[in-house]
Amino acid sequence: MARKGKHFQVNGQAANGPGHDFFGYGHRIRAALSDRLPKRPVRALDVGTGFGRNAVFLARQLARGSHVCSVDPSEESLKRGTAAVQDAGLAAVVTLGPGSAERLPFPDGEFDLAVGVMLFHHLVKVPPALREMGRVIKPDGKLLIVDWGPTAHLLPFAIEHRVEDFFTPRTVEKMLLETGFGATVEQHPMWYVVEAVKV
Ligand SMILES: C[S@@+](CC[C@H](N)C(=O)[O-])C[C@H]1O[C@@H](n2cnc3c(N)ncnc32)[C@H](O)[C@@H]1O
Repeated sequence: MARKGKHFQVNGQAANGPGHDFFGYGHRIRAALSDRLPKRPVRALDVGTGFGRNAVFLARQLARGSHVCSVDPSEESLKRGTAAVQDAGLAAVVTLGPGSAERLPFPDGEFDLAVGVMLFHHLVKVPPALREMGRVIKPDGKLLIVDWGPTAHLLPFAIEHRVEDFFTPRTVEKMLLETGFGATVEQHPMWYVVEAVKV
């Protein structure tokens, strides 16, 4: 799989370690997601495990009886995610494993909900990932995307990103419309949240 971005370190440490909680925006990001989560028990897919924050959040927030699968192509992210899930005591509710947004190891219509938090700016091409995420959600399933907007490119990421790695929410909305979704977008100064359903 093609990868974007060059990792770099500051004083021997990744510039954004697991402690940074989305540069202080974590609270507001989780509140925006919370408002959009289904209230019934669901099977949810978290794409891009990363630090495991969203997997843990979903497992805590979704209705009792829900299950979360979290995938990432990076072994290191899966190790970090597994540790976060275990530390939170949520190993029975979250299954982690290898997988990429463009090729998800699940059958069609497996999930009620697919979520990608700070995933899109890592993708080389977004439309194949959207089609694949659409494939694994049910016909009435929901897609939730949160990502940094173009103004965030100067944040001290552990990976060196270019300004063109970050999309405007309108660009994401257009890509969603072109891949068979209807979307609503909420824009914040640094990040955006998109809620999409299949049309
Ligand atoms: C900023 S982290 C995501 C943070 C995570 N959602 C959380 O809540 O902690 C981005 C992750 O996307 C993963 N990633 C990169 N390319 C990917 C792809 N094509 N499909 C799925 N995940 C990918 C990276 O390995 C990395 O772990």
